[in-house]
Amino acid sequence: MSSPNPISDDPDTAPPTSHKKLIAWVEQWNDILKPANVRWCDGSEEEYHQLCDEMVATGTLQELNQRPNSYLALSDPRDVARVEEQTFIASVNQEDAGPTNNWRDPAQLKEEMLEHFSGSMAGRTMYVIPFCMGPLGSAISQHGVQITDSPYVVVNMRIMTRMGHQVLDLLGEDGSFVPCVHSLGHPLAEGEKDVPWPCDPDHRCIAHFPETREIWSYGSGYGGNALLGKKCFALRIASVMARDDGWMAEHMLILGVTPPDGEKKYIAAAFPSACGKTNMAMMVPNLPGWKVETVGDDIAWMRFGDDGQLYAINPEAGFFGVAPGTSEKTNPNALATLSGNCVFTNVAHIEDETGVEDVWWESLTDEPPEGLTNWRGKAWNPADGEPAAHPNARFTVPASQAPCIAPEWEDPKGVPISAILFGGRRAEAVPLVTEARSWEHGIFLGASMSSETTSAAAGAVGKVRFDPFAMLPFMGYNVGDYIAHWLQIGKSAIKGRLPKLFWVNWFRRDENNRFVWPGFGDNARIVKWVVERIAGKAEAVDTPLGLLPTQDALDLSGLSEEQCEKIRSELLEVDTDAWFRELPRLQEHFDSLGERVPDEVFEQLEDLTKRLQSV
Ligand code: GTP
Ligand code: SPV
Ligand code: MN
Repeated sequence: MSSPNPISDDPDTAPPTSHKKLIAWVEQWNDILKPANVRWCDGSEEEYHQLCDEMVATGTLQELNQRPNSYLALSDPRDVARVEEQTFIASVNQEDAGPTNNWRDPAQLKEEMLEHFSGSMAGRTMYVIPFCMGPLGSAISQHGVQITDSPYVVVNMRIMTRMGHQVLDLLGEDGSFVPCVHSLGHPLAEGEKDVPWPCDPDHRCIAHFPETREIWSYGSGYGGNALLGKKCFALRIASVMARDDGWMAEHMLILGVTPPDGEKKYIAAAFPSACGKTNMAMMVPNLPGWKVETVGDDIAWMRFGDDGQLYAINPEAGFFGVAPGTSEKTNPNALATLSGNCVFTNVAHIEDETGVEDVWWESLTDEPPEGLTNWRGKAWNPADGEPAAHPNARFTVPASQAPCIAPEWEDPKGVPISAILFGGRRAEAVPLVTEARSWEHGIFLGASMSSETTSAAAGAVGKVRFDPFAMLPFMGYNVGDYIAHWLQIGKSAIKGRLPKLFWVNWFRRDENNRFVWPGFGDNARIVKWVVERIAGKAEAVDTPLGLLPTQDALDLSGLSEEQCEKIRSELLEVDTDAWFRELPRLQEHFDSLGERVPDEVFEQLEDLTKRLQSV
């Protein structure tokens, strides 16, 4: 293909597109970033293998011989998770980013970032990755193009998104795309030796420009900081698109559930990072005859269909899942999914005398194998008290490989959602499951969500913080406007067609600090109650918080008498004293969210107070 493009007249590197705007954008960044060369990614298997081979040669990846086509990457220890402190929403007016986001003036931030971007790809290849979030050709899908100097990002984007030449075909000559710029921030001087995980932690900056729908990310190669289709695009930028166009971009898993004698239903659930989305989406129900299938494990885009129901698609094509805690007992489907074609990051490495090379993480087996190398690449000594795998170690794997994947997971029209669950990690106060009285009450519950922080983000772990809708780090605009948008969705819906809303908590602890609820496959018991509530079958009791299962309505069959007793008395009761303590915190929380919080939220808080007072 010949092209007038000055980047290259070489047929191997010439842009494989006639999209003028795209070519001009790549050229513009080529001038700024000054890479040694430019490579348009076609998304092919050959390209994937070639990049993996190159990364094995440079030491970025280690090949594993127990799982075909699988690799281990160990990151720089300063680059292990999302960095909320260095993540920005750069809207023209600060109020449009709202009080929960780090705000920067867009022009100023761009000027600063350009200084870092200038020449930052020297000595490296600039990869151009055309990608699609959502099934190719779906009316709900969106396109993006990411440029990056990280081959690790390219191979991960190939797993996590639909990427390559088909997307260029769909873009045609003038299709719209979200431009995503990413650089590790580690230019190479002539002859300089590279490091396995280049990054620039001191100047890291993950910037979103919601008005112009742009993403600029500098200095990190890890997860959501660098795979820009995921949190940056599919949540922060997409939430702004969704607000403007009447749809929803949410931090939710999507599952299909089929009762023994019934019709398949679809449920979405919003839990904060590392609070159980992937596990719930891939659940093997601990109830005979029940089947759960996965549509998505992290993000849901939802739109009203012609029938007035909300339809959801999973914008992603792979899972970027937390490894530690994943075991045959807790998530057998995940382990089966990980049989090949995966990239592991920051787990421990096994290399034994029989020549086995594989990975390990905490809880994978009861006993760790001998001779482990930890995520820092050093011999692991359990006596040091440090985990072998980083707590935010992850696997990247194609969703299509999951034995539990729903056959319709790529259906371009999406799946109709019957219920939405909101849940966090709360050691106390929040019951096991509560049904909202109405859409507005459900929004109040979603906005009241709080959760203990986890290692998915840099910073303290185990601190309770409010995390409305599990979207605190992912809203691309003002949280008050976001809540108003949920209310607006309710107003624009056909009566009776909206999903029912629920509040759940798998993480209550007892006096010995142990989880009271068995969780994982036993969460099917909650799913069963939810499905029965949708069908108008199961019993509920009206409490100040909302509708709780009656003592007999929850199927606890197969659990010990002692467990049942504990569950009934601790998890299905409203602790009124705890809730009186919670009220001023809620008031303070909503006051802190600024002027744009809708009045309905405060009315709901007043109603809750009155209900608690009248107990
Ligand atoms: P992100 O990918 O960061 O968005 O996380 P996630 O919401 O997908 O969480 P994930 O399913 O990966 O679970 C995170 C951690 O919580 C893992 O260590 C799990 O073992 C643990 N976990 C998940 N579900 C349950 C549960 O039902 N009960 C308990 N006690 N732990 C759970
Ligand atoms: C999360 O933190 O919710 C993740 C990991 O899924 S990351 O992609 O890094 O955001
Ligand atoms: Mn997950």
